[in-house]
Amino acid sequence: MLRHLLKVSDFSKNECEKVINKAIELKKNPKKFNSILEGETLLMFFEKPSLRTRISFETGMQQLGGHAIFYSIKDSPLGKKENLSDTAKVASRFVNIIAARVFKRQDIRDLAKYAEVPVINMLDDFAHPCQILGDFQTIKEKKNSLTTMKLSYFGDAHNNVTYDLMRICAMFGWRMDVACPDVPEYSPEQIVLDEVSDLSKETGAEVQVIHNATNAAQDSSVIYTDSWMSYGIPQEQEEERKKAFMPFQVTPSIMKVAKPDVVFMNCLPAMRGYEQTADVIDGPQSIVFDQAENRLHIQKAIMLFLREKF
Ligand code: CP
Ligand code: NVA
Repeated sequence: MLRHLLKVSDFSKNECEKVINKAIELKKNPKKFNSILEGETLLMFFEKPSLRTRISFETGMQQLGGHAIFYSIKDSPLGKKENLSDTAKVASRFVNIIAARVFKRQDIRDLAKYAEVPVINMLDDFAHPCQILGDFQTIKEKKNSLTTMKLSYFGDAHNNVTYDLMRICAMFGWRMDVACPDVPEYSPEQIVLDEVSDLSKETGAEVQVIHNATNAAQDSSVIYTDSWMSYGIPQEQEEERKKAFMPFQVTPSIMKVAKPDVVFMNCLPAMRGYEQTADVIDGPQSIVFDQAENRLHIQKAIMLFLREKF
């Protein structure tokens, strides 16, 4: 059956666990899988910049025996000179998987609607599922389990990464405090709050938005933050955003409030002195580079899952 991954909740909890376990297996024994996607092609549309996503997908596809194409749509006719539906149909005749990093959620939905091969969201304004599945792999490796714990998120909560973190915490029955300024432009959208509340009903998760950083850190096993200047945010907003988010900066005193074995995560790119201080991101509780590495393993697992290889 044709499946896509546009947001993390497109997979069930069981499927997330299956993909995470496969990623751990791929990480331990990469050679065993080095020809499983032989002759297959991944097409990657990029409308925004990337370091990790581009390199890890390209490397991952090559390690599985396949081939990846990087296609910058910054200056291309996508959705302008031809319909997205035509692009999706044509690309489906050439390649086995389409991945896209776009500004607008509707664009990736349209690609998925018309594609005849799986579509993977590599980041839009609504989700970052590859990141969040890799993050949960990292948490599983560090904590030896994914059973209920508390994750606290700090900073910009009108944010793709935050949204998928909220969804996965709801799916896994976790507690999550989202600490952000008390204004709509930095808070989660209602549509996400509604989805998270529905997901939580089934699992007993408690995901809440609060506006006090110290309270958010209480009892936390995972402290997470993301950029204050996501891709595409105009430079002239930097000072205003910095001022708004500074009370939610992750500092050593925030880390001290959390559980003694708390880990610090940031999907990267990170700016020291902005969303976290340098001593936090470069300190002993930081697992940001394990997080980054796991993008490679989880995306290999996601591609194998969508190609029905396990
Ligand atoms: N975390 C992440 O997706 O990084 P890039 O923007 O470098 O791909
Ligand atoms: N929220 C960030 C994530 C980067 C991986 C952004 O959209 O730029």
